Amino acid sequence: MQRILTGIQPSGTFHVGNYFGAMQPLIALQERGQVFAILVDLHALTTVQDAEALRANIRNGAVDFLACGLDPERSVFFRQSDVPAHAELMWILSTVTPMGLLERAHAYKDKVARGLASNAGLFVYPVLQAADILLYDADVVPVGKDQKQHLEIARDIAIKMNETYGRGAELVKLPEPEISEAVATVPGLDGQKMSKSYGNTIEIFAPEKAFRKRIMSIVTDSTPLEAPKDPAGSTIVALYRLVASPEQVRRMEDDFRAGGKGYGDFKQRLFEAAWEYFAAMRARREEILARPGYVDDVLADGARRAREIAEVTMERVKGAVGLK
Ligand code: ADP
Ligand code: TRP
Repeated sequence: MQRILTGIQPSGTFHVGNYFGAMQPLIALQERGQVFAILVDLHALTTVQDAEALRANIRNGAVDFLACGLDPERSVFFRQSDVPAHAELMWILSTVTPMGLLERAHAYKDKVARGLASNAGLFVYPVLQAADILLYDADVVPVGKDQKQHLEIARDIAIKMNETYGRGAELVKLPEPEISEAVATVPGLDGQKMSKSYGNTIEIFAPEKAFRKRIMSIVTDSTPLEAPKDPAGSTIVALYRLVASPEQVRRMEDDFRAGGKGYGDFKQRLFEAAWEYFAAMRARREEILARPGYVDDVLADGARRAREIAEVTMERVKGAVGLK
């Protein structure tokens, strides 16, 4: 069976953009192969340096993914730091990684340009990501466009490793990136990309009042209530398309063009459809939260299954480099 692997940064609360851009596609991939979903807490340490915040992010991230449909029996769901081989393989890979490869990384340069202090962890971040992938001989790595370069770096590191230590064979497996171009960027409250760094998000598991308030604060133009409105560029319609039926969407578009209805009315319809869309996931989340120890058990079991595979890879790699 195909191995599909991806890393999830536990760096905040999940929003509608994360759900449609990352969570839902990953959950759908469970139909196609065995999914390895890693909560990359060691990566998160490069930016989240507050123990309580990190603990909460990891826990909430795990709960939310399970609530959204990640199936811990079919998939291998675990925390990166529960499998020591990630850090260990990262070190070995770093010794064959040319500095120039990392110096070219956009994500590193962007983070530093945005004013993040440039720690060495931020710089070697792509090497740890390569270790995540190579430990499990992943076939396919589904990621968003922003991760394309990190995957190219992972491939380059794998090639270097095989050249240096493979004796003509494939010591580590070259991963194939699968860039989800199909996933449209979900707009935020202000119409630009929904992102926690822009403060324009709708959190999928916000309580009802807060959820409604966020939707009501979507920025609209000043077209008067009675005037016809253009559905094409509307954030309300774009979000409605994600959560409503085609028939409901058609009705909203018609009502936009007809005039006589205000944006408040459309936002209310969006709120109702979005609240309903996440209802079953909210219920599952409540069930998960009501079962003490459940999430810890799931992650411990995932880590156990991951370690078994990772240890075999480490034996092979350590043998090849002379550490065994
Ligand atoms: P944020 O921009 O809020 O910090 P992240 O960068 O942590 O979000 O993204 C986590 C995942 O969610 C990535 O796979 C990313 O591609 C996806 N994602 C985030 N925002 C959006 C969006 N507005 N539309 C589609 N996908 C998104
Ligand atoms: N860097 C990725 C991101 O920010 C997360 C990640 C870590 C990852 N390890 C991975 C993605 C391995 C795919 C495969 O989204």
